[in-house]
Amino acid sequence: MSNAAVLTEVGKPLEVRDDVEVAPPGPGEVRIRTGASGVCHSDLSVANGTVPLPTPIVLGHEGAGTVVEIGEGVTTVAPGDHVVLSFVPNCQECYFCKRGEGYNCEKAAMTAMGGMLDGTTRLTSQGSPLFEMAMCGTFGDETIVPEISMVKIPKDVPLKVAALIGCGVLTGVGAALNTATIKPGDTVAVIGCGGVGLNVIQGAKLAGATNIVAIDVFEHKLELAAQFGATHTVKADQENAASIVTGAADGRLADTVFEVIGLEPTMNQAIELTRKGGEVVLVGVPRMDVMLNLPAAFTFLYLGKTVKGCWYGSSNVNDDVPKLLDLYQEGKLLLDELISREIGLDGIDGAFEAMGTGQVARSVIVYDD
Ligand code: CU
Repeated sequence: MSNAAVLTEVGKPLEVRDDVEVAPPGPGEVRIRTGASGVCHSDLSVANGTVPLPTPIVLGHEGAGTVVEIGEGVTTVAPGDHVVLSFVPNCQECYFCKRGEGYNCEKAAMTAMGGMLDGTTRLTSQGSPLFEMAMCGTFGDETIVPEISMVKIPKDVPLKVAALIGCGVLTGVGAALNTATIKPGDTVAVIGCGGVGLNVIQGAKLAGATNIVAIDVFEHKLELAAQFGATHTVKADQENAASIVTGAADGRLADTVFEVIGLEPTMNQAIELTRKGGEVVLVGVPRMDVMLNLPAAFTFLYLGKTVKGCWYGSSNVNDDVPKLLDLYQEGKLLLDELISREIGLDGIDGAFEAMGTGQVARSVIVYDD
């Protein structure tokens, strides 16, 4: 029997259960003993209905763990291996994977159904099947995950650090290094400095940006932003972001602006803070009913701005996970600093609440080994 925090219904607190039965891995699947899982804003988005998924479901999609059993045909990992889970599978065979767009892998279509790649489930509790968020289900101490949704990592990387790579770091650093085209000397602005925003900031620094303007309403997040490489901070409800950006960039607006919240007003603000010819990167997860209404002439034609969507940091996990771990080991990527607190499964609801008050970068569930 395994333990898991189960979302039984949208809007309800998670239920910590100790009776979860885990079926053996099917072909191409792997049984994982979860080592650690970040609590990400997207988990909260499923719990409160912003992102619709079937219930009952084991949430959690930012995790790392140890392989305990492999299904038929699995060749890339073996029992005992440590892995980072990828909430987007990367089959390496489809149209998208073959052209270096692993983040658009066709196999990801099934993740919206809550089951495995074949649509069926592997977890059972109280007589009913449990779905898994993004085929990861890392709010459980054991889970079944497709082989194509994990990347093997060296054993000297702590699992609680590795876990964060699976979502927040790949997304944030990837937004800066893969999605955007930041040039050395550029001025970058980042709206929203939570777990992902901090990673956009350190990604922009790695890309060589000279001015990195961090914008948030929470003082504490702005302090963290400075630690991760922001050169200027803007208290959004008190200071004028445009004047701070132009003050930093010889009177120009920003070369690249990242929106990392997912709200219409901040997306519009991102577009307004971008110089002519500059790039806007939309990273935040909006509700399904959020719409953008842009002046076509004075966004795209005369001002030549580019608005780019960013899914999973435009990452190819098999290349990007090792790259990020190298940067971490060289001291160029802050990961330990992202962990605000370590919790157990019973602490997830508290972690959701803490997100609303802007106190934490990341709460991380650390499982007993
Ligand atoms: Cu996430």
